[in-house]
Amino acid sequence: MAGPGILRLYLVSALALSSCSLSLASDQRNADRVVRLPGQPESPSVSQFSGYVTVNERHGRALFYWFFEAQTTPEEKPLLLWLNGGPGCSSIGYGAVSELGPLTVVRQGAALKFNEYAWNKEANLLFLESPVGVGFSYTNTSSDLDSLNDDFVAEDAYSFLVNWLERFPEYKNREFYISGESYAGHYVPQLAELVYERNQNKKGKSYIDLKGFIVGNPITNDYFDSRGLAEYAWSHAVVSDEVYKSIKKYCDFKNSNWSNDCSATMDIVYSQYQEIDIYNIYAPKCLLNQTSASSAVQAFFENGQDQFRRRIRMFSGYDPCYSSYAEDYFNRKDVQRALHANVSGLVPGKWRACSDPILNSYNFSVFSVLPIYSKLIKGGLRVWLYSGDADGRVPVIGSRYCVEALGLPIKTQWQPWYLDKQVAGRFVEYHGMSMVTVRGAGHLVPLNKPAESLTLINTFLRGEQLPTQR
Ligand SMILES: *[C@@H]1O[C@H](CO)[C@@H](O)[C@H](O)[C@H]1NC(C)=O
Ligand SMILES: *[C@@H]1O[C@H](CO)[C@@H](O)[C@H](O)[C@H]1NC(C)=O
Ligand SMILES: *[C@@H]1O[C@H](CO)[C@@H](O)[C@H](O)[C@H]1NC(C)=O
Ligand SMILES: *[C@@H]1O[C@H](CO)[C@@H](O)[C@H](O)[C@H]1NC(C)=O
Ligand SMILES: *[C@@H]1O[C@H](CO)[C@@H](O)[C@H](O)[C@H]1NC(C)=O
Repeated sequence: MAGPGILRLYLVSALALSSCSLSLASDQRNADRVVRLPGQPESPSVSQFSGYVTVNERHGRALFYWFFEAQTTPEEKPLLLWLNGGPGCSSIGYGAVSELGPLTVVRQGAALKFNEYAWNKEANLLFLESPVGVGFSYTNTSSDLDSLNDDFVAEDAYSFLVNWLERFPEYKNREFYISGESYAGHYVPQLAELVYERNQNKKGKSYIDLKGFIVGNPITNDYFDSRGLAEYAWSHAVVSDEVYKSIKKYCDFKNSNWSNDCSATMDIVYSQYQEIDIYNIYAPKCLLNQTSASSAVQAFFENGQDQFRRRIRMFSGYDPCYSSYAEDYFNRKDVQRALHANVSGLVPGKWRACSDPILNSYNFSVFSVLPIYSKLIKGGLRVWLYSGDADGRVPVIGSRYCVEALGLPIKTQWQPWYLDKQVAGRFVEYHGMSMVTVRGAGHLVPLNKPAESLTLINTFLRGEQLPTQR
């Protein structure tokens, strides 16, 4: 009798244990619900959650997330993660409140406005401040901040996902997509690869139903992206023929260590971008005096090109001063309380849209993520790359070189796609991936072209083709 008795006991306690951890997770989930934010419009109602997920207990690392359920029938919609780049820039400061979230910040951080082109129309939308040191995400082990590189970022983001899904188990078997822009051109495929790998290793408990990824104006391959930057500056009348000739003479972008002659020539390119907005070359520049944005741009030029070329940051767009509104908003104590951010006062300093210390200490060690594209395309993931064609920082030219280099056979020729009877951009479909341009958008496509970007993401999520009829 002893055997079955022990067995029964074990089963009972296992049951008790799992229901206990389940209820802890659901308690935490309830605690993360955001009732209403300061300055949030009365209607429509927005179902949102935010808080911390521990990604490393020993070091005390926790990442901050903000989650919006889909506006209608969330139980039928996929889960979409959005990441901004930098490294060091906040996905809530850019993605959520400036680009594609349902609540965008307006009036110098005094209020939020409902965004009718929000991406949670068609998806459950998750923003993550990554890595630690960005925004409200923090670590109790300060030496972590000196070890940041692409691997570190991907591992923590993966732990975040697994733990977040424990808190929101209804999304565990949901179709999952990863999206992002700029330096997230590294983060997104790298995280996708990690999920893909871990899915092979242990089907079951931590399986994540990853279906694909989409990246915008993504840093992808340093050689093609640098060449693209130089060619774009020349072909868009930013620099002279002579400067362009020098670049061709002195710059071998295949080597990440530029020669002195190349650096001197590229300095001329950057100096021409000082007076305009490299992230949206036809937009007005933010003229606010003391935003971190303008001071950071200033710092670029003071630190010289070596710093500059690593900095893939975004400071401008339709309202060229928007990132300072986000800083005003997220530094309000009432906002932090409502968002469950910095609850125990553990996040040092001020909330910044982008963190200079993270950018400066980041270890850039990956030259190209194209091999990951090849691998995941073979693995059957849906892969899209889009590009605002007025971005001088990660220009469409470099992205075209990157996509071409994959050597995929063409399925549908380069052609226009339409919205409201206008050409919204162009696209080309390959067997394995699609590339889409958004006409007149800069680095932050959802900010500059909200309606076009909503069509783009919906089409991607449904696995359809962009509208080819006027
Ligand atoms: C960081 O340390 C504080 C104080 O000891 C603790 O309350 C908090 O839970 C720690 N954070 C993490 C993510 O472990
Ligand atoms: C980079 O190139 C410079 C000269 O152009 C050289 O002095 C330096 O050692 C090189 N650094 C690396 C890491 O290759
Ligand atoms: C603009 O910034 C400069 C340098 O920080 C400062 O001296 C000046 O007073 C500021 N002007 C205004 C109008 O805020
Ligand atoms: C978090 O709270 C502490 C204590 O109130 C404060 O010193 C710190 O500046 C806050 N951090 C952020 C990012 O607002
Ligand atoms: C940067 O990261 C690479 C790849 O992980 C590693 O080999 C290298 O040692 C790191 N460099 C520094 C200075 O930490």
